[in-house]
Amino acid sequence: MLYVTRREVFSASHRLFNKQLSDAENEEIFDKCSNPHGHGHNYVLEVIVSGEINPKTGYVIDLKKLKRIVRENVIKKVDHKHLNYDTGFLKNIIPTAENIAVGIWNELYDKITEGRLFSVKLYETENNYVEYRGE
Ligand code: NI
Repeated sequence: MLYVTRREVFSASHRLFNKQLSDAENEEIFDKCSNPHGHGHNYVLEVIVSGEINPKTGYVIDLKKLKRIVRENVIKKVDHKHLNYDTGFLKNIIPTAENIAVGIWNELYDKITEGRLFSVKLYETENNYVEYRGE
């Protein structure tokens, strides 16, 4: 089994806010991440595909194809967007790194037909990242 990774970066803004909670509760849980007008991050996304080497090509998945799939299905929808308002797959979801990673997984899962999607890693800062493996 081999693991092939495509890395992409995108810039987006978000606000962590649960509209079912009071302003005070939101502030308590999310602190400055709940500031009314949001804030931004330079996210780093790693999409990892696992599989065996195709003897015809020597690839698990052609990284040019993986790049195209990730850009088309994810980056276009999140880069320079406000994730609370502009990104369909995050509608009515609190855009934490956790929820964004799950959303990205769901956007990509069916699109990857060589190998299979193994992991979505999303770095929100240099020191904080989440990883989702679909279960
Ligand atoms: Ni944030």
